[in-house]
Amino acid sequence: MTASKAPSFEFLLERDDLVWMGQNTTHLPPAPEVLAALELSTRRHEFQVYAPALGFSRLRELIVEDLGLEGARAWVTDGAVAGLHHIVTSLAPTLSKVVTTDPGWPWPGRFATVQGVPVSVLPVYSPEAGFKVLAEQLAAEVTERALIYLIDPLNPLGSRYTREELEAITTLARERGAYLVHDCTYRHFAKGHTLAAELYPEGTFTTYSFSKWLGLAGLRLGAVVAQPQLLDRLTEVPSNPLGAGITAQRAAIAGLEVRAAWLENLTRVNDLNQQIVKDVVDTSGLGRVLVWPSHGNFLAVDVSGSGWSADGLCEAMLEQDIFIRPGTYQSPGFGERFVKISTSVPTAWVRRFAAAWEDLAKNGQAR
Ligand SMILES: Cc1ncc(COP(=O)(O)O)c(C=O)c1O
Repeated sequence: MTASKAPSFEFLLERDDLVWMGQNTTHLPPAPEVLAALELSTRRHEFQVYAPALGFSRLRELIVEDLGLEGARAWVTDGAVAGLHHIVTSLAPTLSKVVTTDPGWPWPGRFATVQGVPVSVLPVYSPEAGFKVLAEQLAAEVTERALIYLIDPLNPLGSRYTREELEAITTLARERGAYLVHDCTYRHFAKGHTLAAELYPEGTFTTYSFSKWLGLAGLRLGAVVAQPQLLDRLTEVPSNPLGAGITAQRAAIAGLEVRAAWLENLTRVNDLNQQIVKDVVDTSGLGRVLVWPSHGNFLAVDVSGSGWSADGLCEAMLEQDIFIRPGTYQSPGFGERFVKISTSVPTAWVRRFAAAWEDLAKNGQAR
């Protein structure tokens, strides 16, 4: 099992004609309001000062409002990942283990390992289980003071949890005295989404990102949202007491203020693009889409049995200026079987992706 090395993003950025469908980032023209906020903040030289330690109060309110979580508070972080890092490292001395999934997003498990906290990884590459972890599977692993790291919708597969499934998971967490980290990075793309914090407010941290739905990945902005008594445990000594990027926060406020119109267009384009990807996968005979519809801004395509390895296929696509990601980045157990294709991008890019995919299916030398 090889963990594939990501192509250098610095090197990829030098390729002007590259189609970015490998980071789940959004590449549509930004909302004019967001651009105006960035420009205004820059013109006012706001980058010369620090932001408040936990984020601008207006932004914190808007994040809680966006989630609709009554009584909760938000702490603005340097991307969702910084929040995840702080949750895991600050709770580590009290944790019995971290329970996560394969495929999944590997970083929180790695943060735990560095702290000496054991990590249990549950396999979820299974159509029978709907490509997600079920409460019965968790029951065997979740011990007292465990932390369950649940990604929903699940990067990289696109599955999401129903309210009933979350009820079973949160009941288990409550019974065992376990924390739940509900990673909602892709929530805005989901067709229906339940927040575990509604069901288990006293033990759930919700993590939030501006990288995907608003397309601010390079500005590094996210949040951790929880009930005050839970959040206080993290923010007494925040990981970045000098505050997240001030200009990024201005952009995020502007984005949240035009959220509804922005999301309407974004999800329409994302849906259309997913259909184009699904069609070319189906008609080319190269691979099969694993979860349809995907609740994220990406599709996972199983290519096992095609002769192509996930890494070989991504390499061949990159030679045609299409950047997609092999599963090996996110799955030690199953990564060689699938690739992941991000879809919140201009439809013209998706058409280029489709042409390259079709070409490799017909004429490519599998590697
Ligand atoms: C599941 C998941 N959580 C967290 C992150 C990190 O988000 P951010 O860019 O806000 O740090 C990612 C990024 O790909 C992700 O896929």
